[in-house]
Amino acid sequence: MFEGKTVLITGAAAGLGEAAAEAFAARGTKLLLSDISPQVEDVAARLGAAWMIADAASPQDHKALVAKAVEIGGRLDVALNNAGIVHQPMRIEQTPEDIARRVIEVDLLGMFWALQAQLPQLQQQNRADGSTSAIINLSSIAGLVAAPTLGIYAAAKHGVTGLTRTAALENARRGIRVNAICPAFTRTKMVADVISAAPDKAAAEAELTRGVPMKRLAEREEIIAAILFAADPQNSFMTGQTIALDGGVTAY
Ligand SMILES: NC(=O)c1ccc[n+]([C@@H]2O[C@H](COP(=O)([O-])OP(=O)(O)OC[C@H]3O[C@@H](n4cnc5c(N)ncnc54)[C@H](O)[C@@H]3O)[C@@H](O)[C@H]2O)c1
Repeated sequence: MFEGKTVLITGAAAGLGEAAAEAFAARGTKLLLSDISPQVEDVAARLGAAWMIADAASPQDHKALVAKAVEIGGRLDVALNNAGIVHQPMRIEQTPEDIARRVIEVDLLGMFWALQAQLPQLQQQNRADGSTSAIINLSSIAGLVAAPTLGIYAAAKHGVTGLTRTAALENARRGIRVNAICPAFTRTKMVADVISAAPDKAAAEAELTRGVPMKRLAEREEIIAAILFAADPQNSFMTGQTIALDGGVTAY
């Protein structure tokens, strides 16, 4: 299904981005991995992928990534907009201005710049030969429901679901499917950092899963399965969806 497709992944040096890179590499894709961290070079070397240091908050970097993907594969088939940051848990009134601004810059505006760079290329491909493509945006359960102590992150991720739905409708007749993946807390460095900063780590993990009916964190592979589903060209009628992977949270 993915053999020979050109796939771009942001935030690929760790966590879900790295796991997605492994999954797409195993499926015979031409991969372009990017991250703000130089560790992306190690991941790319291990997987035989191309790589580029890029800041998700930079519109120019997103344009450079699309150009590089086209250089590698002649086109772009799948864009996984995964790069993101979170902040330590704190109430809205305690959140410092610099943290609030950076979360919006990376998680929300970064998604906007990614779409702005990717959509013209994907539209042009569809006009040229009728081919289709998929964009998958990493939102969060915090993009669907309230996230007490993660206010500015929730605002950014709600913005990502809004952007996803809008991009999907603007491109519904242009062969571009745009969907968002909305995980609850998943066992990655992002969550490990939050847990390890807490004085009582077991209590912190229990707190993160308190409202989750399955009473556990998600594993990376469980999120990757949904990313592959959203990217799959055979899944050709699904667009504008916000797919919750949350152990049942939003079933209430
Ligand atoms: N882990 C979770 O519980 C969880 C839950 C819901 C949503 N998400 C979302 O999934 C995505 C991936 O999260 P993760 O858990 O793998 O995080 P992670 O911290 O393990 O990895 C994120 C990667 O993004 C990179 N990154 C950070 N800022 C960047 C920037 N400005 N430009 C480019 N790269 C940057 C980091 O260097 C890192 O390699 C994020 O968008 C996150 O908000 C994660």
